[in-house]
Amino acid sequence: MYSHDFLRAKSEGRKLSMATCYDYTFARLLSRTALDGILVGDSAAMVMHGHSSTLSMTVEITRMHTQAVVRGAGEKFVVADMPFLSFRKGLAAAMDTAQVLMTAGAHALKLEGVDGHEDVIQRMVQSGIPVMGHLGLQPQSVHAYGGFRVQGRSDDSSRDIVRQATALQELGAFAIVLECVPAKLAQEITMALRIPTVGIGAGAGCDGQILVLQDLLGMNVDFHPKFSRHFMDGSCTIVDAVARFDEAVKTGAFPLPEESYS
Ligand code: KIV
Repeated sequence: MYSHDFLRAKSEGRKLSMATCYDYTFARLLSRTALDGILVGDSAAMVMHGHSSTLSMTVEITRMHTQAVVRGAGEKFVVADMPFLSFRKGLAAAMDTAQVLMTAGAHALKLEGVDGHEDVIQRMVQSGIPVMGHLGLQPQSVHAYGGFRVQGRSDDSSRDIVRQATALQELGAFAIVLECVPAKLAQEITMALRIPTVGIGAGAGCDGQILVLQDLLGMNVDFHPKFSRHFMDGSCTIVDAVARFDEAVKTGAFPLPEESYS
């Protein structure tokens, strides 16, 4: 899968599936699935590092997660997130970030929003870097919203998201993540664009869907928004496995002679 295959999938009416991933072991597992792409999301700040928002993500930490994922991901298409403010400090600084993440092995970069960094998106595209947009709820702007809230509910806000989506397409983005917008709006945007939309909390009308891996595996007990279906009960499965290990150690049932060296 390459960025142009995303466009082909849309033209052929084939849905796109993506999940986040931040480490080598999970990337190895995802490489054995038919997922169309992996996102090294800045959600790693929350999921992997326990921060309350994505603002703490840095270029260096993203580079480290990207390298680990790429080592395990085989042929999978890997998109890395441009961290908070890393593309808002001028063109040269943004291109330095892009260079770090692309040379870490990413095949494409995602960045939130469009207004005020059109030049960055254009230069990245002109430099051969496939760019994925991200509209709707942009978690890096959580403080401006006053919380993680659905976007595009008012006429003004929905019009603005449509405007930004069109601008991203014109600037050369190959796809757009639509996060937490009403399903009807996401469908309208999807129908209006040539490039595919990948939704998270944006309904079934998008060209594809993305979820945070730990959420789809049901590993996050504290966070369960309604759009994030648990495809397994990861927290129970893991806690149960470790509890059985603990019990086996404490009762002397582990290790057995055949699990020991003579
Ligand atoms: O960082 C992330 O996980 C994301 C997804 C929510 C799309 O941007």
